[in-house]
Amino acid sequence: MLKKIEAIIREEKLADVKEALRCIGIKGMNVFEIRGQGRQGGIELSGRSGTYHVDMLPKLQVNIVLSEHNLRDTVDTIMKAARTGESGDGLIFVYPVDDVIRVRTGERGRNAVMYPGDIDEKKGGPNGP
Ligand SMILES: Nc1ncnc2c1ncn2[C@@H]1O[C@H](COP(=O)(O)OP(=O)(O)OP(=O)(O)O)[C@@H](O)[C@H]1O
Ligand SMILES: [Mg+2]
Repeated sequence: MLKKIEAIIREEKLADVKEALRCIGIKGMNVFEIRGQGRQGGIELSGRSGTYHVDMLPKLQVNIVLSEHNLRDTVDTIMKAARTGESGDGLIFVYPVDDVIRVRTGERGRNAVMYPGDIDEKKGGPNGP
């Protein structure tokens, strides 16, 4: 079973998140620049002419498609690396994925999101050496 993680994180946490993911063997990902708001509905900022409200704040969205058996470790890793403890640390959404097809080879499903030296080889898990 394949899953997709869509992690909304602080811009300044990208380097830490990428490094933590690299350490556990997560390789394939997308990063999008987005704007959004959570339950505080943005933030109040103070400028020369008083305070004003910024409703949509810049964030980064990190998308990763992976095997379900790697979901928990990956979510835990993102949480540890992305967390400051302050509001605005982000959210992690998880979705089911129907299929993945590697264009060059026609590999499908989890074979299409496996890489040499990835999380499964590191764990010696079901896809390990
Ligand atoms: N319900 C939602 N659906 C889609 N995206 C959301 C949703 N809620 C928040 N987001 C995205 O997540 C970003 C960060 O949200 P944020 O960390 O402020 O979550 P929160 O629920 O308000 O938690 P906290 O109280 O810790 O701030 C938002 O800027 C937005 O991009
Ligand atoms: Mg918030």
